[in-house]
Amino acid sequence: MRVNVVGIDIGFGFTKATNGRDTLVFKSIFGEASDIPFREQLLSAASPEEHLHIELDGESFFVGELAEHQSHVRSFTLDQNQFITNFAKTMAMAALSRLASPNDSVNLVTGLPVSFYRRHREELSGLLLGRHTLATLDANANRREIPLTVNQVRVIPQPFGSLFNLMMGDSAELTDKRFAEEKIGVVDVGFRTTDYTVSDKTKYSGRGSGSSESGIARAFAMIAAKLLEQTGVDVELYRMYDAVARGSIKIRGKTIDLRPLTEEAFSKLASAVAGEVDRLWADDWDIDRIVVTGGGGAVLAPYLQPLLSGEVQPVDPTADSRLNNVRGYWKYGRNVWNTQPQAVPERRAASDS
Ligand SMILES: Nc1ncnc2c1ncn2[C@@H]1O[C@H](COP(=O)(O)OP(=O)(O)OP(=O)(O)O)[C@@H](O)[C@H]1O
Ligand SMILES: [Mg+2]
Repeated sequence: MRVNVVGIDIGFGFTKATNGRDTLVFKSIFGEASDIPFREQLLSAASPEEHLHIELDGESFFVGELAEHQSHVRSFTLDQNQFITNFAKTMAMAALSRLASPNDSVNLVTGLPVSFYRRHREELSGLLLGRHTLATLDANANRREIPLTVNQVRVIPQPFGSLFNLMMGDSAELTDKRFAEEKIGVVDVGFRTTDYTVSDKTKYSGRGSGSSESGIARAFAMIAAKLLEQTGVDVELYRMYDAVARGSIKIRGKTIDLRPLTEEAFSKLASAVAGEVDRLWADDWDIDRIVVTGGGGAVLAPYLQPLLSGEVQPVDPTADSRLNNVRGYWKYGRNVWNTQPQAVPERRAASDS
């Protein structure tokens, strides 16, 4: 049996996962699996990555883009309790269906928003631990069983993923001591939540940590409200990414310029985040460095950085910053379980889960 270290970051917007070799990102949406007419068309259009069709505990689901485009009934939520009870396991198993092989033994590292960490970490590891009967169906409806066992689960506060990612290299060795020795403030702007944490020589500071609802979805909601006013169409929030990135949206044949609306919404969101930083870190004026991370961190950085006082770690424009946490989860897993990728570990670190 192979032991595979996998990091999974189950976000409200996107689920991100890596086993050190392959990396996967898909929207955190699932839906009923329906018959797909015209499979041929789908085959030529979609890459295999976009075809996430799984069977879990006797139920069949479309996940990610496939659910967005093909399921009549889709589930997407911004509610935390819903998210853990109804989404976390499905998203994690959809990720593992791509990153694990049949009969693998998996050690998982995942995270929770700071404010839900204490309350939900046991529940989350409980959902993920153990043996799972998982199967996938490819675009030609070929079924493949991937039974697997999740042996160990570590749950960490989400923004620590980004910190570990900056601190360690690809073999989980310490590469940048500054992040281990300094007092670092992390702002992780996600789709729904923005998480704040302070790491003092890698020690978690409860005082400087918290979550708020100042995620990108709030800016999207402001834009969507304006669009509803203008067109009468209520655009679902998860359909806004491409439109905002493109700078325009076409509704019932009419193209609407989104740039002024986006500028306004992102500026407002950035001031809210900067205000939260000032309040939360009022007593932490000795922070050495501020790290802005998360997919939302990258899009908000131009608006946010001028409002932050202190030394701000520049956002790496070449990396997809949605992946910062999950890369760190994986490195952390490599570090705790001291394994080579895909190798059977000789010794197993004691786990608290
Ligand atoms: N290539 C991209 N495609 C889509 N969104 C992107 C991309 N790059 C950056 N983004 C931004 O990233 C945001 C999502 O970031 P991220 O994946 O970190 O959130 P999340 O972890 O799913 O949310 P939360 O932390 O609230 O659970 C989107 O709202 C979008 O603004
Ligand atoms: Mg996140």
